[in-house]
Amino acid sequence: MNCIRVNTGIPYDVLIRRGILRDAGAEIKKVKPNTRLAVITDSNVSPLYLHTLLNSLEQAGYRDIPSFTMPAGESTKSLENAGLLYQLLSQAKISRDCCLIALGGGVIGDLTGFVASTYLRGIPFIQIPTTLLAQVDSSVGGKTAVNLPTGKNLVGTFWQPSLVLCDPDTLSTLPEDVFADGVAEAIKCGMIKDAVLFDLLAHQDPQTHLEEIISRCICVKRDVVEKDEHDTGDRMLLNFGHTMGHAVENWMQYQQRHGQCVAVGMVMMVRAQVAAGMLAPTVLEKLLQICQKYCLPVSCSACWEDLFEICRQDKKSTTKGIRAILLHSIGDSYIQPFSFEEFKTFLRGGDQQ
Ligand SMILES: NC(=O)c1ccc[n+]([C@@H]2O[C@H](COP(=O)([O-])OP(=O)(O)OC[C@H]3O[C@@H](n4cnc5c(N)ncnc54)[C@H](O)[C@@H]3O)[C@@H](O)[C@H]2O)c1
Ligand SMILES: [Zn+2]
Repeated sequence: MNCIRVNTGIPYDVLIRRGILRDAGAEIKKVKPNTRLAVITDSNVSPLYLHTLLNSLEQAGYRDIPSFTMPAGESTKSLENAGLLYQLLSQAKISRDCCLIALGGGVIGDLTGFVASTYLRGIPFIQIPTTLLAQVDSSVGGKTAVNLPTGKNLVGTFWQPSLVLCDPDTLSTLPEDVFADGVAEAIKCGMIKDAVLFDLLAHQDPQTHLEEIISRCICVKRDVVEKDEHDTGDRMLLNFGHTMGHAVENWMQYQQRHGQCVAVGMVMMVRAQVAAGMLAPTVLEKLLQICQKYCLPVSCSACWEDLFEICRQDKKSTTKGIRAILLHSIGDSYIQPFSFEEFKTFLRGGDQQ
């Protein structure tokens, strides 16, 4: 088993092991003994894994565990559903000394974390992520959020989990495109900080190396989160490929999966850097090859000017310009501030390459 300690304000462990879902009760008992638990999950995950989790919790001595199954899908991450959960938790007499468990992908993790951080001014929660994206990315770092009709993740908190349990076996039931979404984030982790991870993804069968891939991604995220828990500096490195990725997502009206848009975003940035003579052309070749291996797209039908305009209006852009994430090489990244005009020239270069 891999155990990764994340040293944020209150430290917590991330445990990664095949089959750990069946031992969830015993692991949770070590950090939350004599605590009443409640589980939040979604309608796809519930028939697959809720029974195993509840069994394991009961074996460990937990009793009277309410579970709430939300509809699967991004639209579940709403203030309305947070409100509904507050009511259900209160009716089930969940008090401040109880602990919530998020069993599901990033949607359930973000919603449960948000509810946990606000219900009764904050109660503990545990993440049991069941998508690759949630295992390598969203379950660690403490960002919680719900969406507004005007945009994604516009309301949220920083609230760290008490424990994260990653069971790679749960990924066997994921649809292929949802799995590939997580791979795109894993590629990103390799590109920004871990060349060995990048090579592993490029040359090995990921299914036989899941524990190592997940662990390496979590270490990358842990390292930046520990330095920058509240997202003001170093944590920005995790946004590699995301400035343009978000623009692509927006342009596609959120009809294309996040990881696919991030793949396009990473390629655009690397292409522009190579065109500017700032990066070896082999980096672009390797990125294109790895995207092909995982059936991730490398371009989209939008022209770069349209994407640039979307970037300029993005809530994460400052009035002064864009803080782009660039590479020295695979595994070595840095933050580069650009004025909007400079960034436009940079992107144009990539387009002409
Ligand atoms: N908090 C953060 O730091 C952070 C980081 C990245 C992404 N996110 C958020 O994460 C969300 C995306 O997460 P996601 O891709 O996991 O989406 P998701 O939770 O919607 O899961 C994708 C789909 O897979 C299904 N599913 C989940 N586990 C399954 C399993 N084991 N077998 C079969 N089906 C399963 C879900 O029901 C859903 O239909 C977005 O809302 C995004 O904003 C948050
Ligand atoms: Zn992402």
